Amino acid sequence: MRVLVDGRESRSIDPLDRGLQYGDGLFETIAVPGGRPRLLDWHLERLAEGERRLGFPASDGDTLRREIDIVSSGSRCIVKLIVTRGSGERGYRPPRPARPTRIVVAWDWPATAAAAATGARVGWCRTHLGRNPALAGLKHLNRLEQVLARAEWDDGVMDEGLMCDDRGHVIAATQANLFAKVGGRWATPRLDECGVAGVMRRAFCAWQAGRGAPVEELAMTRAHVEAATALLLTNALAGAWPVSALEGRPLALDPAADEFQAWLARA
Ligand SMILES: Cc1ncc(COP(=O)(O)O)c(C=O)c1O
Repeated sequence: MRVLVDGRESRSIDPLDRGLQYGDGLFETIAVPGGRPRLLDWHLERLAEGERRLGFPASDGDTLRREIDIVSSGSRCIVKLIVTRGSGERGYRPPRPARPTRIVVAWDWPATAAAAATGARVGWCRTHLGRNPALAGLKHLNRLEQVLARAEWDDGVMDEGLMCDDRGHVIAATQANLFAKVGGRWATPRLDECGVAGVMRRAFCAWQAGRGAPVEELAMTRAHVEAATALLLTNALAGAWPVSALEGRPLALDPAADEFQAWLARA
């Protein structure tokens, strides 16, 4: 693991950093499958959008790209980029001006990534997602809902859990976006009240639109998911991960997952 904090090799963070104190920050998990960061422009766009919405000063894209190159140093790895509002006094009031902290970490490519081809066994999580349009779509550091949901199983039987909001609308898996094939067309949950607008979700939607079959964004219910002929999960690391079973009921792996993966490898 290689870590840069504000551009310097370090493992230390100020205990008063607001990322630690309040989760006042954003992150990106970026796949570097062949030495080159995948979909980097879109990761940096989402980060910039998060900075704008949270009122952070904008990060310098060239600095981030250079530091991602330094930590990954051409190897096959995963890079996690964290930007917090920086250190502050006691209390929630944001410091003005804020001096953000930048953390760039590279890990070896995980062995579990290969499991993507075999399909995900998914079930429903009891933990709900709260709704808040001010944060919807952002990849912010507050991930306690996902932590609680992921603590619901540890049985080796389930790979991922699907999460609903408090109204029962299906939003996503704990660490992936969801696509459901209903009536022969792919649909994905709307994310205007909660959820993370995944970079890979964007890529899958762009790919489908390019094939003349745009993905429909809808207020997805459990009934939609249970009636779907195929389900797919997407995230930056796995690309598209087809679902092989929902609550133990087998589902056919849709060829779209492999086709998308091939397109992604060329993109
Ligand atoms: C809660 C949640 N939703 C969606 C995603 C997918 O986002 P991305 O495609 O940018 O990896 C992730 C990824 O970790 C996530 O944690």
